[in-house]
Amino acid sequence: MKDNYTICNCKQVSFYDVADALAKHKNFKDVLEAFENVQKVTHCSTGCGGCHDKVLDAISELLMGSEKL
Ligand code: FES
Repeated sequence: MKDNYTICNCKQVSFYDVADALAKHKNFKDVLEAFENVQKVTHCSTGCGGCHDKVLDAISELLMGSEKL
């Protein structure tokens, strides 16, 4: 199991929060659609926006690690 870490400091969203948000909605066409859903659920990247790339990286990692798109 991967260690948890904070992805978004503004909104206190962790890697596990992103993983949970992804697990709730499994049908994504692409990473950007997944990002929008994760953002709706967790509100990550709605503050300074500085974590945007980190969120995308985490989503890509999670999607590749679990199911093929
Ligand atoms: S660190 Fe995520 S919006 Fe600022």
